[in-house]
Amino acid sequence: MTSDHVTRRGLFQGGAALAATAPLVSQAMAAPAQPSSKGTPMSPVELTVNGREVHLQLDPRTTLLDALREHLHLTGTKKGCDHGQCGACTVIVEGRRINSCLTLAVMHDGEKVTTIEGLGTPEALHPMQKAFIVHDGYQCGYCTPGQICSAVSVLEEIDAGIPSHVTEDLAQVAFSDAELRERMSGNICRCAAYSNIIAAMRDVAGETQA
Ligand code: FES
Ligand code: FES
Repeated sequence: MTSDHVTRRGLFQGGAALAATAPLVSQAMAAPAQPSSKGTPMSPVELTVNGREVHLQLDPRTTLLDALREHLHLTGTKKGCDHGQCGACTVIVEGRRINSCLTLAVMHDGEKVTTIEGLGTPEALHPMQKAFIVHDGYQCGYCTPGQICSAVSVLEEIDAGIPSHVTEDLAQVAFSDAELRERMSGNICRCAAYSNIIAAMRDVAGETQA
């Protein structure tokens, strides 16, 4: 094991520790934002983020990604391209994964949002977070929160029998590497940890082979 390897794990654990403190931050940020100094009408938005109700006053043009990062300080969710092309901003809304950069926060008034901070804690990691560590499913880690949110949702989609572009038998969605790769194709990893991400997902799904 190289010292570089140890450092990356340390970074991941540090990030997980930061995530554990996020609910406190979101509670502190639940107070309404100040009205825009330019007179832009602000819209009230209520969300349940990682199990906690938050009340915001937002410029209606605020994306869900910016509401999470800039207003609630939940910076686990990353801004990569801000154009729906990289998947770094993936969060789970009402049980479905979405690119939070492509949707406005006001469109999700009253909805439940789960971010990487809500999946697990440093003391009790989500199985997918554990599997990413075990299988080295990351290097720099920038894409990792989005990858993990997507990976959790992908297994639920397969379990629910939701077909993908590569599903051969629509009546019975088979678990395979091809299904995983297709469904994860919206999450780009500049470090190319793709094979290890698939291994982590197989591990969590209890599959030993494709
Ligand atoms: Fe949303 Fe890239 S930041 S898809
Ligand atoms: Fe670096 Fe994916 S781990 S971009």
